[in-house]
Amino acid sequence: SQTWLIVPAAGQGRRMGADKPKQYLTLADEQPVLAHTLARLHSAFPSARLVLCLDADDRWFSPYWVPFTDWQRVSGGSERMDSVLNALHAMAADDNDVVMVHDVARPCITLGDLQALYQAASTHPAGALLAMPVADTMKRADDKYQSVQTEPRDGLWHALTPQGFRYALLLRALETARQQQTLVTDEASAVEALGEHPQLISGRRDNLKITHPDDLALAAAIMAAQTA
Ligand code: C5P
Repeated sequence: SQTWLIVPAAGQGRRMGADKPKQYLTLADEQPVLAHTLARLHSAFPSARLVLCLDADDRWFSPYWVPFTDWQRVSGGSERMDSVLNALHAMAADDNDVVMVHDVARPCITLGDLQALYQAASTHPAGALLAMPVADTMKRADDKYQSVQTEPRDGLWHALTPQGFRYALLLRALETARQQQTLVTDEASAVEALGEHPQLISGRRDNLKITHPDDLALAAAIMAAQTA
């Protein structure tokens, strides 16, 4: 069987407020976020097959940044789940192949977390995701940003990526979500909606998703500390 990686990289990254999508902003070694993310994935899964979701009008991508020998590019959709569905439809995968989906905006992913996630995704029938227990007290706000209630944080986790599932399950989950017009912001929520319960794998806290302008410097510092 074959191991697949889907990297959704078709977002605009509007919250960054930069002149290009965040995956093309430069981190260490003058390399963009996208190159760092792909390099980390490749070091863990050198013989995996990569499907990269890119905006049809992407003006910044260069294949020079792709270290995989076996890879293909697909067009992104209007939402993240549409991009991932485009990838799933374009892949020549078998039902039981393990497919891991990883945000291009998470370049600080470590080898250890990638290996742990793959191990869980290939053994748990409902798949698995990296996640982190919530440490802060959680507030429910009203529309004036007033704190109206405290939510119990017991059993609450932050969902990270990668998230990994068997191909047939992930395809059925996302097709069902699209049919029912439920907007899912990660793959696991579509799988949950089928009544399946993906395994949470406690991941590192430094698996940052680059979202806001400050995150770029933070990611560079994290990566420098990881390789020190
Ligand atoms: O915007 P956000 O950080 O939540 O996006 C998560 C990931 O999904 C990013 O890697 C982004 O490039 C990708 N994405 C996509 N297609 C979209 C929207 C987001 O591939 N239509």
